Amino acid sequence: MSKLTDLSAWQALETHYYDMAEVQLRELFVSDPQRGERLTAEGAGLYLDYSKHRVTDETLKLLLALAAEAGVEKKRDAMFAGEKINITEGRAVLHTALRAPRDAVINVDGKNVVPDVHEVLDRMGEFADQIRAGKWLGYTGKPIKNIVNIGIGGSDLGPVMAYEALKHYSQRDLTLRFVSNVDGTDIAEKTRDLDPAETLFIVSSKTFTTQETMTNARTARQWLLSALKDDAAVARHFVAVSTNATEVQKFGIDTANMFGFWDWVGGRYSMDSAIGLSVMIAVGPDNYRELLAGFHDMDEHFRTAPADKNLPMLMGLIGIWYNNFFGAESVAVLPYDQYLAYFPAYLQQLDMESNGKHITLEGQTVDYQTGPIIWGQPGTNGQHAFYQLIHQGTKLIPCDFIGFCQTLNVLPPHHDLLMANVFAQTEALAFGKTYEQVIADGVDPKIAPHRVFDGNRPTSTILADRLTPRTLGALIALYEHKVFVQGAIWDINSFDQWGVELGKVLASKIAPELDSKAEPDLKHDSSTNTLIRRYRARRG
Ligand code: F6P
Repeated sequence: MSKLTDLSAWQALETHYYDMAEVQLRELFVSDPQRGERLTAEGAGLYLDYSKHRVTDETLKLLLALAAEAGVEKKRDAMFAGEKINITEGRAVLHTALRAPRDAVINVDGKNVVPDVHEVLDRMGEFADQIRAGKWLGYTGKPIKNIVNIGIGGSDLGPVMAYEALKHYSQRDLTLRFVSNVDGTDIAEKTRDLDPAETLFIVSSKTFTTQETMTNARTARQWLLSALKDDAAVARHFVAVSTNATEVQKFGIDTANMFGFWDWVGGRYSMDSAIGLSVMIAVGPDNYRELLAGFHDMDEHFRTAPADKNLPMLMGLIGIWYNNFFGAESVAVLPYDQYLAYFPAYLQQLDMESNGKHITLEGQTVDYQTGPIIWGQPGTNGQHAFYQLIHQGTKLIPCDFIGFCQTLNVLPPHHDLLMANVFAQTEALAFGKTYEQVIADGVDPKIAPHRVFDGNRPTSTILADRLTPRTLGALIALYEHKVFVQGAIWDINSFDQWGVELGKVLASKIAPELDSKAEPDLKHDSSTNTLIRRYRARRG
């Protein structure tokens, strides 16, 4: 493939940027009264309004040409077909197979993986049903009431996000907790009020070697055994989700109580594999299947919808427009639904671990920006925290507003007020308030400049009817594929994560130095050596 910045569409976009840099959304809406109806797209139950972006038909034409020249659709098809597009690890990238219907055929190395996916899903379903019905008994004969998922990164963020998102559908007499941090405070606080005899730990780790997870799992085992006093209790109180049966066995978990997945599922793309076991226990197998169906709806939309009506394609391309031509460095994701409180945190790993890369597939250093910084929190709380900067600061921050037409908790007037804020914010960000309007309100001219809103601050609005398991699946898959589109254009490998390795290696080297009784032979830089010495002297 030619270098991205040499592509004719890229160069045309560079020129076009100069025509667009000063164009105001106010003008774009005045010159096209239908803009708000026209620049919208729908798929898998999600409605996307992208009219409040600094784009014209010409911009969209050029962005779509860029996608074509960069071969996004070809790369997409290669992913869906199970080609080994994760070239640094020699792996296929097939999270889409995790939600494929039972009769689908998806081959990896000549083997159809779909039957294996459904075999695991069926086993998860049986297990979840037993827990939910109080039939899975702990070692002392008490039914399990508390489920603690131990995992980190993709083995935590997806489950905790989806559990919180689908709490409305959860079985309320079960307590779900998620332990991730190696900070002992996490597991101490999450277990302190639980009865070990009623608690099940799900140790979720693709590799089953991750320091944080294995440390927490060992602490959990001690916590359990100090109460139940018999190693045989582990079998009733621990299950594993992993691709690594050998390590699961070594830890002492019976592989009969292990739910597997495969190396073609990346950690941050694994929440709909067995990694979602805790979510399935909470909401039940039927709701979980609905979640998977929502993912699949969006997969099909992404695979088949024409590029100019394709939600992930449009969101990915518009993101590139700001990231690479306007120099925007971040994207705020602002869900107007309390149940989606963890969605921005989940997206941080999905997007930043995928596209935080600077080497192309051919091994060259990029000469353009790649993945943006993703951040956000639920509205309306964010409005009273950081929106000031989005409205009047010096940085351009494209925002995704996410809202639902129906609430799951009908308490008038809450939902109308919540949604009024979505519409008000996107309107204010786009159109602002001019100096003349401020003066016309009778504001002192000395103060007036402070009260001017320039507007022209771009937003997408994603609307769905209701937060259901199916809608959630579609929403997550929308972002998975948006990330894919951008990675495909930047020509990077969105599916490895070598950047987290060095820190892990150094931490395991430093850990014994902290604990060493003898003065260790510290071979770090002078800053690290001094910090380690000070810590050792004062750690007690
Ligand atoms: O943060 C690095 C990472 O490898 C993630 O990609 C992954 O989701 C996480 O660690 C946890 O890994 P595992 O599931 O193997 O414990």
